[in-house]
Amino acid sequence: MIELSVKSGSPDKQRTASVVVGLFENRKMTPEAEYLDRVSKGYISKVLRHGDMEGQLGSTLLLHEVPNMLCDRVLIVGLGKERDFKENEFKKVVTAVIRALSDLGGLDASVYLAELPVRKRELPWKIEHIVLAAYHTLYRFDLLKSQAKPSSRSLKRLTIHVPSRADLAEGEEALQIGIAIGEGMTLAKDLGNMPANLCTPSYLAATAQALAKEHEKLKLQILEKEELENLGMGAFLAVSKGSQEPPKFIIMQYQGGVAEEPPYVLVGKGITFDSGGISIKPSADMDEMKFDMCGAAATLGTMHAVAKLNLPINVVGIVPACENLPDGRANKPGDVLTTMSGQTVEVLNTDAEGRLILCDALTYAERFNPRAVIDIATLTGACVIALGHHASGLFANQESLARALLNAAEQSWDRAWRLPLWEDYNAALKSNFADFANVGGRAGGSITAACFLSHFTKKYHWAHIDIAGTAYRSGQEKGSTGRPVPLLVHYMLQAATNKNDED
Ligand code: BES
Ligand code: MN
Ligand code: ZN
Repeated sequence: MIELSVKSGSPDKQRTASVVVGLFENRKMTPEAEYLDRVSKGYISKVLRHGDMEGQLGSTLLLHEVPNMLCDRVLIVGLGKERDFKENEFKKVVTAVIRALSDLGGLDASVYLAELPVRKRELPWKIEHIVLAAYHTLYRFDLLKSQAKPSSRSLKRLTIHVPSRADLAEGEEALQIGIAIGEGMTLAKDLGNMPANLCTPSYLAATAQALAKEHEKLKLQILEKEELENLGMGAFLAVSKGSQEPPKFIIMQYQGGVAEEPPYVLVGKGITFDSGGISIKPSADMDEMKFDMCGAAATLGTMHAVAKLNLPINVVGIVPACENLPDGRANKPGDVLTTMSGQTVEVLNTDAEGRLILCDALTYAERFNPRAVIDIATLTGACVIALGHHASGLFANQESLARALLNAAEQSWDRAWRLPLWEDYNAALKSNFADFANVGGRAGGSITAACFLSHFTKKYHWAHIDIAGTAYRSGQEKGSTGRPVPLLVHYMLQAATNKNDED
């Protein structure tokens, strides 16, 4: 990644290769552009009069040799209509700037974008999103290309300008949060994008091992098949039976608070490939089921960010990891499994495997006496139908946990939408042969999946985030998004702040 920093100071005094300022539609200058215009004795307004730029959202104009400036060039970026300038527009602008800068010559740039007026968003939000746009735009997954292209020709340093010296401390904090989230997302993206022949359960375990090595406060434990048998994880093991890859149950414990303090527990679905099993999926787009471990990836990414920020809380990350494949020994429709909780489940569809591995992990989570448990899973296609690719689905058995997560989603602009967990939906899971079935029909598919999980989370405050529509993109832009790492990190930041308030 490029080097990022925050600084205050006027644009004409920056010795960087480029300086970036914004322009609203109808050539309405921002205060920074106006300032440059004055310093350069009307150079900017002269160029604008020539009609080279109107200020359309995301458009850019490069100016060389602007008088009385220490930089080599000025990049003007179009901001669109001032009254329409909101979160998504801000993100578009910053992305356009990073793209343009990485195509230019010049090692470094100073951007004057953090002072742009985004309704209801303060300086830290804007700085965080400049950082995240840089991570997002410069991200490449070319590990498996024989000839890798560099993500940026020459850009090495980006300086984010804040209005005054008084803003530097706040700016620096936002920068560090942005960097931690950006790194966490990059880790999550790399894991998600890695194909299933390489990203196996053992690979996830090795990655967790590397994280534990990097962070002193992060401890790792991996449970193997025999130990899982002893624990009675009949549901998790049933899913893993059709695969030659050994299942791994990964437990990461970050201790930033005192030892006795109850932790926040994350549980990430780690199906490294979901073929559907005996209830096999259609071939079209089945490759995308390598992304079925994105809940696990987000869990690792969040653990990394939390450790990097040295948050004063305890966080446990649990990842049940295995493949879901058809085989002579595979889990079959009609099989009845005994879960670690003792409750029995009739498998009516082996493709509803996520809930089977999560239920045992959720029971395992009880032993931590958790403050809250949050599971993250690419759980249902139905969630994609309900919410599309913009919002993750949120479920919770407790109001203040739901509110805190929705708030974190709004803060981080990694949005989620709550769906109901009413008793009424439970009827769909009725089984004639076991305590309940693992599927509840097509109607309300993401809700009945959450209902299934709720049978295993009675002993603590619990939330479930269905990321089937948000964790990765299909088509031309196919790839992992790194979501919901921003949401989860913001939740942990809140938890750390509230705790400090309590003290
Ligand atoms: N991993 C899938 C869910 C999924 C589907 C994620 C599409 C991303 C995109 C999950 O294991 C699954 O197969 N769910 C089934 C459940 C059904 C059998 C009740 C589904 O959604 O079709
Ligand atoms: Mn499945
Ligand atoms: Zn799945």
